[in-house]
Amino acid sequence: MTILVTGGAGFIGANFILEWMRRGDEAVVNLDALTYAGNADNLASLQGDARYDFVCGDIKDRKLVDRLLRRYAPRAVVHFAAESHVDRSIHGPDAFIQTNVFGTFTLLEAARSYWSGLSGADRDDFRFLNVSTDEVYGSLEHDDPAFTENSCYRPNSPYSASKAAADHLVRAWHHTYGLPVLVSNCSNNYGPRQFPEKLIPLAITNALCGKPLPVYGDGMSVRDWLYVGDHCSALQAVLEGGVPGEVYNIGGRNEVSALEVVKGVCELLDELHPDRAGPYSRLITFVKDRPGHDRRYAIDPGKAEYALAWSAVESFASGLRKTVDWYLANREWTDNVQSGAYQHWITRNYEARG
Ligand code: NAD
Ligand code: DAU
Repeated sequence: MTILVTGGAGFIGANFILEWMRRGDEAVVNLDALTYAGNADNLASLQGDARYDFVCGDIKDRKLVDRLLRRYAPRAVVHFAAESHVDRSIHGPDAFIQTNVFGTFTLLEAARSYWSGLSGADRDDFRFLNVSTDEVYGSLEHDDPAFTENSCYRPNSPYSASKAAADHLVRAWHHTYGLPVLVSNCSNNYGPRQFPEKLIPLAITNALCGKPLPVYGDGMSVRDWLYVGDHCSALQAVLEGGVPGEVYNIGGRNEVSALEVVKGVCELLDELHPDRAGPYSRLITFVKDRPGHDRRYAIDPGKAEYALAWSAVESFASGLRKTVDWYLANREWTDNVQSGAYQHWITRNYEARG
């Protein structure tokens, strides 16, 4: 048995594959275009493992996807590949529409064609798991209840709009063609191997270089933080126990503001890697807000907890400590991804914020 993972060289995909291989014997083929966010080093430990194949390629390449489905005959597609950073979607939405919308459409069509040719248990058991985000539900006010699977779609950024579009396609491919799809909408992940453009790894890596820790607006935007290992275990549970056509919201019940997150990083670094120049919080710098910035996300994971017997293991405190530990122990990983292209992005995103 094999599963086809897309985007497995990125942050969550790589953690998912590493965990998958640790837990069982089932083979994985990883289709990833190795964009700026994809990092083959993330899976270096799997080199030589006969259960793992890496294919460098684009999910928009229908012929390639058809070939992989024929060759590997996977029992499931787990679809992570995406452009994933909200700020980049504001500067350049094109790639988000191409990959997140057209790429998902291409995969769905290829999966539909492949699945139509299956029979018996192979056909009944096939699954297409679309890894999506809570951002499709839009923004909550301070005292609104958390998002459920029945919350309306109200995406506010080019990124979330492109993910919402993909979710709609996935839903339609189930409703119209019967493709056995599953959708998970997850909150903000953090943990090892996250590209240092997102808040937590950016704060850790900037702090270690003595650079400013940029906090957008008043720093009171709230996210529901989930340790990546908990997201990966949820995805396994959705894949194994989820009902085709159903949606599962995944979250950590850890609502924390951006400012508190950055302060938390500073406190851990003060303890684990003290700086002679003083507490890291001296580097916190309030900068111009993100256009259209969503104020608050919160997930009600009750359905996944009840229907799949899944729950998050890490608290925000334990997950953040593991994360800071990992970045301290893997400075080379960060140095390698902070290439010229990364520096160009940092200048582009932060220069105009003052
Ligand atoms: P990431 O940006 O770290 O990784 C994305 C991966 O997709 C990279 O390896 C990249 O090379 C690959 N990719 C991009 N375009 C591709 C294409 N056209 N063809 C093949 N591969 C391509 O993203 P992530 O944070 O790991 O997120 C993975 C998925 O989970 C995304 O779909 C994202 O929307 C979703 N998600 C992320 C979070 C989060 O907090 N990071 C939360 C909920 C859902
Ligand atoms: O909610 C799930 C989503 O979480 C995923 O679908 C996205 O792929 C992922 O990027 C993430 O989106 P966010 O925009 O919430 O994550 P980001 O790390 O960019 O920002 C988290 C919060 O921190 C947000 O309120 C903006 C703020 N922020 C971010 C950066 C990069 C800052 O204050 N300063 C920063 O420099």
